[in-house]
Amino acid sequence: DVGGVKISREDVVRDDPTNNVPDNIFSKLGVQLHRRDEHPLGILKNAIYEYFDTNYSNKFEKFDDLCPIVSVKENFDDVLVPEDHVSRSYNDTYYVDPQTVLRCHTSAHQAELLRSGHTHFLVTGDVYRRDSIDSTHYPVFHQMEGFRVFSPEDWEASGMDATLFAATDLKKCLEGLASHLFGAVEMRWVDTYFPFTNPSFELEIYFKENWLEVLGCGVTEQEILKRNGKPNNVAWAFGLGLERLAMVLFDIPDIRLFWSNDERFTSQFSKGQLGVKFKPFSKFPPCYKDMSFWISESFTENNLCEVVRGIAGDLVEEVQLIDNFTNKKGMTSHCYRIAYRSMERSLTDEEINDLQWKVREQVQDKLNVVLR
Ligand code: PHE
Repeated sequence: DVGGVKISREDVVRDDPTNNVPDNIFSKLGVQLHRRDEHPLGILKNAIYEYFDTNYSNKFEKFDDLCPIVSVKENFDDVLVPEDHVSRSYNDTYYVDPQTVLRCHTSAHQAELLRSGHTHFLVTGDVYRRDSIDSTHYPVFHQMEGFRVFSPEDWEASGMDATLFAATDLKKCLEGLASHLFGAVEMRWVDTYFPFTNPSFELEIYFKENWLEVLGCGVTEQEILKRNGKPNNVAWAFGLGLERLAMVLFDIPDIRLFWSNDERFTSQFSKGQLGVKFKPFSKFPPCYKDMSFWISESFTENNLCEVVRGIAGDLVEEVQLIDNFTNKKGMTSHCYRIAYRSMERSLTDEEINDLQWKVREQVQDKLNVVLR
């Protein structure tokens, strides 16, 4: 049951080359962690709602139950993602069939909501991306999209041109949000590119001696407004990653924990309590396994990670390329180190050897590589 619609496994996972949704991803559809008021992601979502409600007198409409299965048109075309953009590839995105994907960002809903006449909205949802494996990357995560449309009277009164007016308002809004969530925190704006905004920015916050990217945003491309019934307006949009923010706010060390049903995790959070620091239950020892193979042209790290995740599930913590060389014959060898670690218990040698054995088998069968 996803966003009010019944979805069966056969609708999403098929033995068909145009479908690359594995079972472990299908099982995440409809879980909607962001709708649990006692879950760090739900607590964070509600805190952001509160900021918008207070500062914009409840003007922002909220959507957190839109179906994550969307058309290629909604996910890419409607937000002007070029035909040849990498995000459209089967290596980066989960395709249900050639016209249907698991949304890779909440921007997939911008056009539809604009067309239905909404001018101030927040869309929260689970998003899906094929990616590498480490403590901050998981193939399902959560985003919140914000969108605000302005009318000519808004910017005319300011004396600024429309784009500058929107960009200024956007930065002020998001700096206010960052202070609402973090209190005093160092932040910086970085210019960037998105197909759907211009100018585009990223907001980074300084955390544990690193600049951490927490959101992307910008002034909406005029073409999107024109196509969706708002030719005389300007707008801004942002998309923020809830896990990224929640890991910082709650001191959550590993992104897999968001999916944990272990009471030692879930019992530490309660409704309305933003930023209560997570106390790790004792960290269990990791176990490292290396594997080397000759790659072929079609090899990608995302495909490797999917095989490993398919076998080890949340027992895999990191997959890291530790050696890479090409010999005189032009053959390229990769060595990957896989870190296995449970968040909940000690793993036995036997169990890990068994996983690693299956990984080796499937890597050889599915990825067209030669184990060394
Ligand atoms: N959709 C972008 C992403 O997922 C974020 C974004 C949203 C950027 C809205 C600009 C405007 O990375």
